[in-house]
Amino acid sequence: MTICILGRQPAIGLAELEALYGADTVRPVEKNAALVDAEVDFVRLGGSQKSGEVLTTIAGSDPQKALLWLQKNISDIAGNVDGKLKLGVSIYGATMSVAKLNANVLSLKKVLRERGQSVRVVPNTELELSSAQTHHNNLTDERGCEIMIVRDGGSLIIARATDVQDIDAYRKRDQERPHRDTFVGMLPPKLAQTIVNLAAADKLEGVVLDPFCGTGVVLQEAALMRYEVYGTDLEEKMVRYSRDNLNWLQDLQRLHVAKYYETADATDHTWRKPIDIVACEGYLGHPFSSEPSKEALLETIQTSNVIMKKFLANIGDQLTPGTRLCIAAPAWFVRGHIHHLPVSLKLNELGYERISFRHAKNEQLIYRRADQVVGRELLVLKKK
Ligand SMILES: C[S@@+](CC[C@H](N)C(=O)[O-])C[C@H]1O[C@@H](n2cnc3c(N)ncnc32)[C@H](O)[C@@H]1O
Repeated sequence: MTICILGRQPAIGLAELEALYGADTVRPVEKNAALVDAEVDFVRLGGSQKSGEVLTTIAGSDPQKALLWLQKNISDIAGNVDGKLKLGVSIYGATMSVAKLNANVLSLKKVLRERGQSVRVVPNTELELSSAQTHHNNLTDERGCEIMIVRDGGSLIIARATDVQDIDAYRKRDQERPHRDTFVGMLPPKLAQTIVNLAAADKLEGVVLDPFCGTGVVLQEAALMRYEVYGTDLEEKMVRYSRDNLNWLQDLQRLHVAKYYETADATDHTWRKPIDIVACEGYLGHPFSSEPSKEALLETIQTSNVIMKKFLANIGDQLTPGTRLCIAAPAWFVRGHIHHLPVSLKLNELGYERISFRHAKNEQLIYRRADQVVGRELLVLKKK
């Protein structure tokens, strides 16, 4: 059994796991974790920070009980490591003082030292070690051991971390690629992974089309998952940016996937076939950095809506029934109200079913930092 520690917006991470592994296989754990009864392909996940193998579950919610269990079992769990073992413990959803946790981790170190294992502890400044701490201390490598204690209602899950988001690799793909463009927006690679996963569900190969490809972030992540990629955009410059960025990634990662590009208006273009999966960030309108006037807001909603509506009508006839799409559409947070793209209420009429998730509500699927005016609403659709 795998436990995933979810990202900043847990509902998005849950929907991603549900799309990939099925609702029956996933069980939410408190606010920010999920159990998955399947082998998880962690590197493709955008919405989970860490994952681990569940070792045991114990009754009670006091983490001290879990730490006592670890005193007895840490030698078996850590095994014999050549050289120094790095040891860390994270507690999710249960309370204890950080000082007490650090004292407990030192006791675990002592147990290991007594049987001859040299150990370095990663000290906690909070109950949870961050992804950066886990990653930079190599705690998921063979010479590392991070124990995760996760509260699950009236019991505690004890797991050993096996994977963590590679924040250096994300930063490199985001910031070192040849072309970036602040005007079309900076889609975070993690969110691009989630967009592809929500659209792909159990389809693990085929062609991923991004009809608004911009600088190619979605295409980059799809290519890393070994899909063929097909990017089109109204602007020739953007198509060139996508091509250059994908070529750069191909050299960096020795990737060999088929790639197609066209300069095309998504509202009237006829794409080549097959199109197996549609994953994109649509036109987001004006990138407001502060709350716009009523008129400016209405104008941008109108412009984005027309493009999205015409695009959905145009591509609908070109998709095989059952084809899934995930579109990051703009949603505006202005003066306490959320303004959705009007077409998001007309999807049925346009021939699409909006997918509902058992473990996440659709209104939770809006990716946004607290201070942002324009959020990205994840519309997960199926062609009827
Ligand atoms: C928010 S950006 C997408 C950015 C992209 N996710 C990336 O990785 O850079 C929207 C893109 O849609 C393109 N666009 C706007 N209207 C379009 C249309 N009618 N057809 C196709 N592309 C369009 C813009 O040129 C822009 O590159």
